[in-house]
Amino acid sequence: MDYLKIHPTAALEGKINISGAKNASLPLIAMTILAKEAVKITNLPNVVDIKTLLKLLANLGANCDFFDDGVLVNTSSINETKATYDIVKTMRASILVLGPILARFGHCEVSLPGGCAIGQRPIDLHLKALEQMGAKIDIKAGYIEASTPNGLKGCEIIFDKITVTGTANIVMAAALAKGVTSITNAAREPEVVQLCEILNNSGVTIKGIGTAILEIHGTAGELINIKEFAVIPDRIEAGTYLCAGAITKSELTLTNVEPKHLGAVLSKLEEMGSSFTIAKDTITIHPSDEIKAVKIITQEYPAFPTDMQAQFLALATQANGVSIIEEKLFENRFMHVSELQRMGADITLNGHTATVNGKTQLSGTDVMATDLRASSALVLAGLIANGETNVHRIYHLDRGYDSLESKLKNVGAKIQRLKE
Ligand code: UD1
Repeated sequence: MDYLKIHPTAALEGKINISGAKNASLPLIAMTILAKEAVKITNLPNVVDIKTLLKLLANLGANCDFFDDGVLVNTSSINETKATYDIVKTMRASILVLGPILARFGHCEVSLPGGCAIGQRPIDLHLKALEQMGAKIDIKAGYIEASTPNGLKGCEIIFDKITVTGTANIVMAAALAKGVTSITNAAREPEVVQLCEILNNSGVTIKGIGTAILEIHGTAGELINIKEFAVIPDRIEAGTYLCAGAITKSELTLTNVEPKHLGAVLSKLEEMGSSFTIAKDTITIHPSDEIKAVKIITQEYPAFPTDMQAQFLALATQANGVSIIEEKLFENRFMHVSELQRMGADITLNGHTATVNGKTQLSGTDVMATDLRASSALVLAGLIANGETNVHRIYHLDRGYDSLESKLKNVGAKIQRLKE
């Protein structure tokens, strides 16, 4: 198993190129199941979750040909419709194949994803919506068994809660359904928007893209032609490196970034004292000498993302005063707190709220990554902690950060990947 050894650096300097978004790539890869011919995807991040989903598609019979920064996926050879436990257990987002396989083949089996480090994460809303569209769903021996005796039919779906992969799943199912599906309380995340835009350019009319009410006009089973496209930049990776600039008080420039997707993150960093130079696809952070305390509530896009909560918690340990961070989306997403406390952070947890008393000098030690974004928070803490920080279990980090240590090394960080 790999781990990261980090020593503090005076300041970082230079440019970091942002990779394609993991959370956009996953539904876009699943979407290729709806295509008549091979689909070329570029700006794909080199992360484990993407390889996992492509492996799942390959197991179903698809052909995946990799090139520099992308893949050509041909799903016309799919001859299997069962997504097995061995893959689904490693990545919950495998559930994204349920909607498109069911829509194309009329039957599908997907292993239930099970529990997760950050909370229960049920998929009841995905299943309820598919049933409304005419699917018959049984749960048997840990598998979702779904079939569509009379095909999928458009209907009115109202999500009780905003769900990102739930919205993507139902949009993909609705793309091949008969008639019009409307989704109320749809997710508005940029990753969902890109999925809808590509489907809309591929012959599936979708109205209301980027709003909470989507209207999808299905093709009644006809497969679609999807032209080559590039995945949008990863806003969470970008946000993480902006936090690296702020916490190390370094001027860093991010390239290949979409500033429009980072509104809430930039606004919180501004409240904490940083300023920015923003161009079309670059952002330079000008950090302040003194970091100010902040109040953050995680919510659905366009509000502050839960996937940036851990990184801001690490940053808040260096702010002067009391910061309050409230997690509204997941019930157990504070596993990084106890690791940051071991590094000397003064944090009190009360239910869904963390109160951070800053500023504290952190001390390097051995810490354990508990989930993807918690891992990057520990790396950020390691960049400014006294002495040596060893971040273990970085397989979490490798699921979603493309070349993290080489990107940080290129701007001067003292970070090494080693074997346990
Ligand atoms: C996606 C992102 C993840 C991010 C999260 C919230 C991907 C691959 N992952 O996860 O990085 O942290 O959005 O922005 O894009 N819920 C239910 N029933 C359901 C579905 C969801 O109760 O059927 C609840 C969840 O438990 C959670 C909330 O709804 O409390 C939001 O979850 P959801 O948006 O579905 O998260 P994911 O799509 O799994």
